[in-house]
Amino acid sequence: MKEKYILANWKQNGSTDLLAKMAEALHSFTYSSNIRVGIFPPAIYLGLTEKIFQKTSILFGIQNISAHPNGAYTGEIAASMCLDVHAQMALIGHSERRHIFADTNEICATKFKNAVHAGVTPVFCIGETLSEHEKGFTKKVLTEQLNSIKDFLTAHFLIAYEPVWAIGTGKAASKEEAQETHAFIRSLLPENYRHTPIVYGGSVNANNTASFLQMPDIDGVLVGGASLDPCTFKKIVAAAT
Ligand code: PGA
Repeated sequence: MKEKYILANWKQNGSTDLLAKMAEALHSFTYSSNIRVGIFPPAIYLGLTEKIFQKTSILFGIQNISAHPNGAYTGEIAASMCLDVHAQMALIGHSERRHIFADTNEICATKFKNAVHAGVTPVFCIGETLSEHEKGFTKKVLTEQLNSIKDFLTAHFLIAYEPVWAIGTGKAASKEEAQETHAFIRSLLPENYRHTPIVYGGSVNANNTASFLQMPDIDGVLVGGASLDPCTFKKIVAAAT
């Protein structure tokens, strides 16, 4: 059975208390063996996340890594440090990184390369803004974003398609629209990488998860706001099962 990813991006939210509550909600719950659940807490909680989830199948990762190697870069976190605390994945190029912190395609590509070299699975986030969407530039934007990593592709990475207009707005893409875009993204990948999981993100909730996962090219969801409530997140995982 094809693997499905249910990923929680907590952004700059969460606490030790939320981690404990999330662990409690998920520990008592059994889901199908093809479901991969992953949590991306703020980096300061990664050590605790490892401790809490170490005997479970829950994956966890970092929301951003440095574009620089280890050294004098105050406040930055290298990909190798993620592995050191057993974080398996790294979000790269989330739209908030691209738009608030000016992570260009070039910077995102370097971060992607660093994650691959460190042995951390990159979850490469791409997506068009509302104005790019309205002007009909979606395919062009996605092509440029994907082209930036074409020289660093690896056996195991994920793509997250997150239309910026759907993030945190309550206006998710329709499942048909998301499917069409995922199929386009897949067609851009070189043939030997076409199996790459492509997850959808942008206003995913407990009510729309199942419909996204029915679509042939949607291999999971990346959930922001709705992942901050353990009960809702558990319902999202349940919807995938
Ligand atoms: P949202 O965020 O689910 O709150 O729309 C998704 C994301 O930014 O990853």
